[in-house]
Amino acid sequence: MKKVLLTGAAGFIGAKTAQLLLDKGVEVIGIDNLNDYYDISLKKLRLSEITHSKFTFEAIDIEDKNALLKLFKNHQFDVVFNLAARAGVRYSMENPDIYMSTNAQGTLNLLECMRIHETKKFVLASTSSLYAGLPMPFKEDLPVNTPISPYAATKKAAEVMAYTYHSLYKIDVSIVRYFTVYGPAGRPDMSPYIFAEKLLKGEPLPVFGDGSQARDFTFVDDIAEGTILAAKPLGYEIINLGGGNNPYTLHQMIALMEKYSGKKSSLKLEAKFAADMDVTWADISKAKKLLGWEPKVSFEAGIRRLIKWHQSQNNN
Ligand SMILES: NC(=O)c1ccc[n+]([C@@H]2O[C@H](COP(=O)([O-])OP(=O)(O)OC[C@H]3O[C@@H](n4cnc5c(N)ncnc54)[C@H](O)[C@@H]3O)[C@@H](O)[C@H]2O)c1
Repeated sequence: MKKVLLTGAAGFIGAKTAQLLLDKGVEVIGIDNLNDYYDISLKKLRLSEITHSKFTFEAIDIEDKNALLKLFKNHQFDVVFNLAARAGVRYSMENPDIYMSTNAQGTLNLLECMRIHETKKFVLASTSSLYAGLPMPFKEDLPVNTPISPYAATKKAAEVMAYTYHSLYKIDVSIVRYFTVYGPAGRPDMSPYIFAEKLLKGEPLPVFGDGSQARDFTFVDDIAEGTILAAKPLGYEIINLGGGNNPYTLHQMIALMEKYSGKKSSLKLEAKFAADMDVTWADISKAKKLLGWEPKVSFEAGIRRLIKWHQSQNNN
């Protein structure tokens, strides 16, 4: 792997993955449309921290097939990592169209460019949201045919289209299904970021439901490592990247945040969303077997690093 295309390079996971690829000596062409779903200054901050000479950034939308074709003409990629997406379950109910055009059509655009330019390897970021309603721990061979949010439905569409291109054109595909990723410079629409910010500012934490929801939280550095390991030739494989332990509840996360910030929280309980899952829990035996991957950062250590980052941003 010498030169790769990484979409969503300004994103939470994309920026970390870019940094790790560069640390491993890989040339990275990063693209992102820098949309304003959340504060663009955070996306720019992440990009500004990638200072390596082998990194090139271009503001390109994966919905723009002509721009992608031009990019593929100018570069010979060994791997395409598609991390660009409209992410977030709740916003997908408000604005399903952009999820379809980016997550499904955008993925198809990339696969088309790969077909035309004979790019061999595709790594697609997918989601544990596909497992809603299925028995735990979630295994990759469960029939994920009943997504309960537009977000999950469009990710399923991308997974299936990638299979079609593997079958027709022998593109080697790894689908990595992430489980609630958290860490420094995270996503401002997700609970780890929201809770840390509110706690440090002494504001009540908005909890949807009663706070007993649990997630198989995975630290962002571990996710970046697993994503890069998944770039090896595998045929077509779907692989969970999750904590793999018993999931942690929101209350447990808040308690750790209190411990490392030294602040006491107050909660503002709000109604649960219809498309929210109660618990997620990954079976990660396939990632261990195929990639030799398992998470290295404990939840406690990860929350400590997250709080430290928020403190550094808030000067408190
Ligand atoms: N964070 C999680 O817990 C989680 C869990 C499961 C799956 N995922 C998946 O991981 C990937 C990365 O997610 P993230 O948490 O870093 O989110 P993020 O929103 O921080 O990153 C996504 C990036 O993609 C960019 N983008 C969106 N639409 C684009 C388009 N049309 N063209 C080019 N760029 C575009 C955004 O500007 C953003 O910078 C996504 O595919 C997401 O669905 C994330």
